[in-house]
Order: sequence, then C-alpha cells, then structure tokens
Amino acid sequence: MYSSRTATTTAFSTGRSASTILKTLSGGSPSSVGFRPATVVFSQKWTPTQQFHSTPSTQIKEFFPEHDNPSIRKTEASWAHPVYTFDQMNNVSIAHRETRDWSDRVAKLAARTLRMGLDFVSGYKHDKAIALNAKDPAAANQKYGMTEKKYLIRNIFLESVAGVPGSVAGILRHLASMRRMKRDNGWIETLLEESYNERMHLLIFLKMGEPGWFMRLMVLGAQGVFFNAMFLSYLISPRTCHRFVGYIEEEAVITYTREIADIDAGKLPKWAKMQAPDIAIDYYNLPEGRRSMRDLLLHIRADEAKHREVNHTLGNLDQREDPNPFASVYKDEGRPHPRKDLKYLKPHGWEREDVL
Ligand SMILES: [Fe+2]
Ligand SMILES: [Fe+2]
Repeated sequence: MYSSRTATTTAFSTGRSASTILKTLSGGSPSSVGFRPATVVFSQKWTPTQQFHSTPSTQIKEFFPEHDNPSIRKTEASWAHPVYTFDQMNNVSIAHRETRDWSDRVAKLAARTLRMGLDFVSGYKHDKAIALNAKDPAAANQKYGMTEKKYLIRNIFLESVAGVPGSVAGILRHLASMRRMKRDNGWIETLLEESYNERMHLLIFLKMGEPGWFMRLMVLGAQGVFFNAMFLSYLISPRTCHRFVGYIEEEAVITYTREIADIDAGKLPKWAKMQAPDIAIDYYNLPEGRRSMRDLLLHIRADEAKHREVNHTLGNLDQREDPNPFASVYKDEGRPHPRKDLKYLKPHGWEREDVL
C-alpha cells in the first residue's frame, strides 16, 4: 500500500505541489500552468514520484502544507471514514423527500434560496442548459456547459458552507446538554463528524485549486451570514434545520451525480485523467487502481447521500428525547436499521416509528 505521507514529503522537498493545479484553475492558461501537476496526475499509472517529478521545480507554494515535525510521523484523522463498497456507491441516486408540513416547506424554500446563490456564484444554469439542449446540444454545451474550473468553484463554495450546520448544531446540543444537565443521546458526535467530513471535502478540493480573493470574500460573507442564521434558526426550530440540511444534501447529490455523468460523457477531459489528491487517498483509504477523480467523486457523493439520510432522519425525531439512531446498538441487529455506512441507505431518511 502506498503511503501518501511519503508522497507529500517528496513534494515539499522538491518544491512541487498539487497547488499548481489550482494555479491553473485560478488564472493560468490550461496549457501552461493550470493543469501541469495534473499532467503528472494524468499519468496512466500513478506513483508518488511520478506525481512530483514531471514538473520543473519552481517557487510553487503548497496551499496548506503538512508540518514536518521532528517527532511526529503522521497525524491520523479523528474520525475514520466508514468503508463504502463501489457497488453501494454506484447505487446512490438522486432523491427528494416531499414536504409534509409548514416546517418542511420553510426548510425547502431556504434550501432552494441557498442553491440559487450557489448557482449564481458558479455560473451553473442547469435548467436553461436542459431547455437549450433539447433544441441545439452544441449551443447548449457552448453556452452553459460546465468545465472543471466551474465545477471546482461550485464544489469549493458548496463545501465551505456545508460544514457549518453540523458544527453549529453540535455546539448548541453540547451546550444544551451541559445547561440542562442531561445526556445528549449521541447526537453531538454524529453532527460534528458530519461537519468534519464536509471540511475534508473542502480540503480535498482545495488541493485542486486555490480560490482567489473574490471567492474568499464570498465564502467569508456566506459563512458569516450562514453561521449566524443557523445559530438562531437552530435555537428556534432544530427540526426545521435538519430538514433544511436534508434538502441541501439532496442538491449536493444532484451536483456530484452530474459531475460524474459529465466525466462519463467526456465533457471533463482533465478530470477524466486526473488522480485523487493524497489527502483523499488517505482519508478514504482508496485502493490501488481506484484512485481516479471519478472514484473520489463517487465517495463524496455517497457522503452527501449519507448526510441526506441522517438529516432527514433527525428531522423526523423528537429533538429533546430521542436517541441518535445512527449511534445506537439495536436489540435485533439482524433487522435493517440506521448505520454509519451505506448498507441500509434510505434517501428520504428513517421514520421515527421504524427506528425507535
Ligand atoms: Fe460535502
Ligand atoms: Fe453534505
């Protein structure tokens, strides 16, 4: 098994890094700077040395380099990622949970509004593209076609806000548990783990492209507004907030499904040849031969499908009294029940009576 730590160290010592990919994306011409490390990454059979030896040494700055401490060999992820099989990931599908009450409608409206903002930022006009595609596919592709760069901007923006709800909810439940002097029943860890997982998605995409000042400003503004909005909303109606996150995750599954489909359709030639960054190989423990960008997107989409299930389920529960079904041991383990992996994935979430 290859050690990504070795690869990373090699990268620093030679002064070459994956941030070149981002330089490409953030301004350089694709043929010159932008996807140069990708040329390394594009190689048919990936090896750590290949990745870092085919680009001339320059003063390229690693976007967030690992610290090379004298005594520490490696810092492990706090939450090990659950194992997903490729069959399970291929079965992940787009789904929508119909609204059932006013709380759901408010959540859906908020999710749609956020999605419109995201569409605007990333220049994503899927509905218009579909309409034009029916009449003139070439024109639709030219006018609305998404490129690797556009998708990367969308993913970075999406993931930069996606990690907010879990952390806000986790903090608030943590404080509530101490304030009320009551157990939390296992929700906090799952919420923080979700937030951690979203941050890992962000860090992975940041290894492919470094956002410019405008993007950073948008992220800063969005995080400032979103954190405070989530904080207040979660105090008022945590159930609505979980439903809102469920709807956001439905959108995330749609986005990643389209990215995978676009790779398969030959619309993203750079990503089709690109390998997953080291940080992703480590986090997902990607096996040899399954480290492509497509394999990575399959994992990330599966994570989003899991968040969709978790939040729709939490939105069905009594927020104060019910235990977290994803952190529970069941009396009859043979019966399908919520789990951390994809064994019994439920796109619309579990109903309360089915899990308690
Ligand atoms: Fe994510
Ligand atoms: Fe997510």
